[in-house]
Amino acid sequence: MNSVNLSCDHAPTLYSKFSLPGGQSVNNRFFKSAMSEQLGNSRLLPDQRLVRVYQRWAKGGTGVLVTGNVMVDREALGEYKNVVLDEQQDLQPFCAWAEAATQTQPGAHIWMQLNHPGKQSPKNLSPQPVAPSAVALGRGLEAAFNKPRELSDAEILKLVEKFATSAALAQEAGFTGVQIHAAHGYLVNQFLSPHHNRRTDRWGGSSENRRRFCLEIYRAIRARVGKGFPVAIKINSADFQKGGFDENDAFDLIRVLSEEGMDHIEISGGNYESPAMTGAKQSTVEREAYFLTFAERAREITDVPLAVTGGFRSVNAMEQALASNAIDFIGLARPLAINPDLPRCAAADSSYIAETGNPTCGVRAVDTMFMMAIGWYETQIARMAKGKNPKPNLSGWWTVLDAVWSMGMSSIKPRRA
Ligand SMILES: Cc1cc2nc3c(=O)[nH]c(=O)nc-3n(C[C@H](O)[C@H](O)[C@H](O)COP(=O)(O)O)c2cc1C
Repeated sequence: MNSVNLSCDHAPTLYSKFSLPGGQSVNNRFFKSAMSEQLGNSRLLPDQRLVRVYQRWAKGGTGVLVTGNVMVDREALGEYKNVVLDEQQDLQPFCAWAEAATQTQPGAHIWMQLNHPGKQSPKNLSPQPVAPSAVALGRGLEAAFNKPRELSDAEILKLVEKFATSAALAQEAGFTGVQIHAAHGYLVNQFLSPHHNRRTDRWGGSSENRRRFCLEIYRAIRARVGKGFPVAIKINSADFQKGGFDENDAFDLIRVLSEEGMDHIEISGGNYESPAMTGAKQSTVEREAYFLTFAERAREITDVPLAVTGGFRSVNAMEQALASNAIDFIGLARPLAINPDLPRCAAADSSYIAETGNPTCGVRAVDTMFMMAIGWYETQIARMAKGKNPKPNLSGWWTVLDAVWSMGMSSIKPRRA
């Protein structure tokens, strides 16, 4: 094993320190998974609002805080209020964002999640999105997302460089690591998927060709940030879509990433067409973590530190998953949007079960229209951005109001120059 549990006399617990392959120490096994905060300002920059949110999460004691997805290309946004990190941006606001975590909690990690949405960029943001192949999103999503055009070889190489540039800038700004978003149907995942990637050149076809984009991004980032800086990735265990990236593809990818020197792998699943990342099959509900069985098998083929995200709620299930040695970190998203102090609450009460609130306004059609299952948690994050506490009994109508307000504001286009 190239990763070390520092309290190795006993089975690891949520509060065992961890040493990453590059030797960086992590305070505990709580891993805040990325949640798009939608708090970028009109210049696509972080500001005081994101600083407050990350101070709040760092104060709660989570070992690794992964940021919401930060876009590497200002011409390709996944959401209206994304943050973009490229060479045109002033780095100072990013320094303040990183410091919000590292200055609040000694030893806190803050990793920037780097993303390109590919075809998962809505119509109002991308009249002409790009993708490995000109395959439109299905399952009714055609109404919200335009059919993409195929990227050229030269454009693919430019995008690889954009990921590397953003990573190098994140390092310069004081982030303690970066995470490549290769899950949930975004561009890197689109390249990995045989359904979305129909190319016949070196970027498509065989499993090896489909993962080339992902590997080239990793290598380009590593070349820029050096060996001593954590480079992590979030992958799907499967897309849960006919003809999509499947478990065998995922195991092959893990094998290759491990040989390449990846520092950390987070396991999730699904995409916009098949949103397995936030839903559970009945068979996995009892064990809480949706992708734990996959992780147990992944553990047999890799020494790279693993996190599983999706479904963890009780301290008991988290401790059991760590004690089994299948994973090293407990990925948590929605529970930390409701309770940023979760790690401290769990330390005080071993029977603690995280709340996930009730994301609804009471009218199903309105919930669907306003994507309440995600939007309600963004409303909670927006409360923290204002210096307020999250409110587990918050009515979904606040999310509707926020969304309507944002739609009004969206007539004012974000500045991209
Ligand atoms: C509001 C919200 C925003 C999210 N944004 C991202 C994101 O930017 N990147 C990402 O990888 N996952 C994102 N996710 C998915 C979460 O990281 C996580 O995989 C999912 O919520 C399941 O974990 P949980 O059951 O602990 O919430 C988001 C989830 C929510 C609720």
